[in-house]
Amino acid sequence: MALLKVLALALPALLIGGATGLAQSATQLRADASSGQAYGVGRTPTAEEIRAWDIAIGPTGEELPQGRGTVREGAQLYRAKGCAGCHGASAIDGKAPILKSKAAPNADIWARGRILPLRAPFATTVWDYINRAMPLNREGTLTADEVYALTAYMLFINDVIREDEVLDAKSLPMVKMPIGSDYASLPEWKPRTPRLKGYPH
Ligand code: HEC
Repeated sequence: MALLKVLALALPALLIGGATGLAQSATQLRADASSGQAYGVGRTPTAEEIRAWDIAIGPTGEELPQGRGTVREGAQLYRAKGCAGCHGASAIDGKAPILKSKAAPNADIWARGRILPLRAPFATTVWDYINRAMPLNREGTLTADEVYALTAYMLFINDVIREDEVLDAKSLPMVKMPIGSDYASLPEWKPRTPRLKGYPH
C-alpha cells in the first residue's frame, strides 16, 4: 500500500520530467535542423547560392536587372540560341509548344490560344520564364540583354508590342498585355458539391 502511494506521488513527477525532456530535445532538434545538423544531412546555403536561386521577377518588375533588347536582336537570337530548333523557325512549326498565336490579333484573347507571351497577365512574367526556363537544357545561359531581346521578339510576333520598341527594366513592366483584367473566373463552388460540372468529386 505504501509502495503504491509512493508510486502515485512519483508518477506525475516522472511524467512531467519526461515531458520536459522531450520538449527539450524537440527544441534542440529544431535548433539543429535550422543549422542543418539534426540528421547529418544538408547544410545552410551560402549567400551566393541564395542569390543564384533568388531570381523571381514580380509583376512590377522591380527586381529586373540592367540591360536592354530589341525585337530585331531577339529575332536573331531566336535562331542563334536554338529556340527555333525546338519551337520551329516560325514559332508554330516545332515539336515544342507554339509560341505565336494562329488567330487574328483582334480575336478574343481567350480564342487566341494558351501562349505565354500572349496570355500572361504581366510582360515581366514572360521575361522571368525565358530567363529561368529557356533554352530547355541550357537554362541560365542567357544574358539579361538576350532575355530582353527574346522577350521583345516573343511579344512582337504576338502583336503585343511594335517592331521598333526597346525593352528594358523601365519599359518592360509598362507593356500592356492583351488580357487586361479579363482573367478566367473561378467556378462557383459550395461545400459538398462537385468541384466542376460533371466531375465526380
Ligand atoms: C530543347 C528544346 C527547347 C529549346 C532549345 C527551347 N525551348 Fe522553349 N520550350 C520547350 C518546351 C518543351 C516547352 C514547354 C515546357 C513546359 O510547358 O513545361 C517550352 C516552353 C517555352 C515557352 C512557354 C510556352 C508557353 O506558352 O507555355 C516559351 C516562351 C519558350 N519556350 C521560349 C523559348 C526561347 C525564347 C528559347 C530560346 C532561347 C527556347 N524556348 C528554347 C523546348 C525548348
